[in-house]
Amino acid sequence: MDKNIMLIGFMGVGKSTVSRALSTKTGMPEVDADAYIVEREGMAITDIFEKYGEDYFRDIETECLRELQEQKGRIISCGGGAVLRDENVEIMKEGGMILLLTAKPETIFQRVRYSKDRPILNGHMNVEYIAELMNKRNPRYTSVADIIIETDDKEIDQIVTEIEQALKK
Ligand code: S3P
Repeated sequence: MDKNIMLIGFMGVGKSTVSRALSTKTGMPEVDADAYIVEREGMAITDIFEKYGEDYFRDIETECLRELQEQKGRIISCGGGAVLRDENVEIMKEGGMILLLTAKPETIFQRVRYSKDRPILNGHMNVEYIAELMNKRNPRYTSVADIIIETDDKEIDQIVTEIEQALKK
């Protein structure tokens, strides 16, 4: 494939897991945008938020998304807030297609409830807050997505198969 597949969706939706499985199945290399940020900055995401604030993190995220588009044919799993900026969506669309993974707030909560690595959810680790933030972000997620895959109650193999079928269309 001469494009990148940009995996997007809410925190805890399973982007990393799907990225790994899709990479194994297709042979396309995978990159985790958040891990790229951590390595480039030499700091954990929570520390970047704590020390410099969200706006600074978002600036770094934009720079990293740009750098990651320099190579093609990869699966790039993006942080849950990456598509909130128009500029980031433009960068993503230039180099690839955007694949949205979705899940219910309850499913997300089960996956992230013990996580300390998500500053956006720190102090708000409950289904209500997740649902509220998801409702705010959903119109954005769905409007920028080229492909949407629901993940609730599905095995990873099924998700990967659905993605492969959608990519063929
Ligand atoms: C964020 C999601 C995180 C990370 C940062 C902000 C968000 O990535 O980029 O904590 O605003 O949704 P994951 O979606 O991989 O958890």
